[in-house]
Amino acid sequence: MRLRKKWWARPELEDSPLFVAKPHDYCGKWQEVFGNNNDIHLELGCGRGRFLSEKARLNPDINYIGIDLKDEVLIYTLKRVQEAEVNNARIAALNIQLIDGVFEKDEISKIYINFCNPWPKDRHKKRRLTHTKFLTEYKKFLKPGSEIWFKTDDVGLFEESIQYFNESSFEIIYLTYDLHNSDFKYNVVTEYESKFTELGMKTMFLIGKIK
Ligand SMILES: C[S@@+](CC[C@H](N)C(=O)[O-])C[C@H]1O[C@@H](n2cnc3c(N)ncnc32)[C@H](O)[C@@H]1O
Repeated sequence: MRLRKKWWARPELEDSPLFVAKPHDYCGKWQEVFGNNNDIHLELGCGRGRFLSEKARLNPDINYIGIDLKDEVLIYTLKRVQEAEVNNARIAALNIQLIDGVFEKDEISKIYINFCNPWPKDRHKKRRLTHTKFLTEYKKFLKPGSEIWFKTDDVGLFEESIQYFNESSFEIIYLTYDLHNSDFKYNVVTEYESKFTELGMKTMFLIGKIK
């Protein structure tokens, strides 16, 4: 996602109680952020927040945290969450490579990874958000039996991610190469998914569950 740097984005984000600028400060305290004991689900690389705000609207009894690297996209996420008038979503600025120490053991119940960068070159594959290296990090804070829902349009990333999930002791409990023509009923469309679908591309999807 190429975006012009928006210098005003950070001050505007920091003005909002929905924005978490230093997520490491809340390790073990995320339920306090939401003021309830509801389960917390993460979206990693949330982009402009279409998925996050819709999920929060549909599921008021679940808390959502959208994480992204770029203030330039998080500012749109903030606007979407504000427009949805939900109080169960927060937005955190973080490079997911630094996620260790942001959440305590068992603090998170589910992760969504939607259309992450495919990093096709061999030397970059360790940057994939589904790489074994990342799955191992996520397992430190996911509750036993938690699921990761992963969608992509990239067949290479998808097939190698199947291996990453298997190698990391996740059981793949659902898998389709064509989500929109599958029997799966619970899909919420993301920005990228909408664009790729208009271009005739298929969305691949899997659910990995911690064994
Ligand atoms: C291709 S976009 C997909 C956005 C959204 N999930 C969707 O499906 O429309 C990938 C997003 O992941 C974010 N991202 C990529 N690497 C990241 C990292 N290491 N940490 C946090 N965010 C990252 C990018 O800034 C971008 O917003």
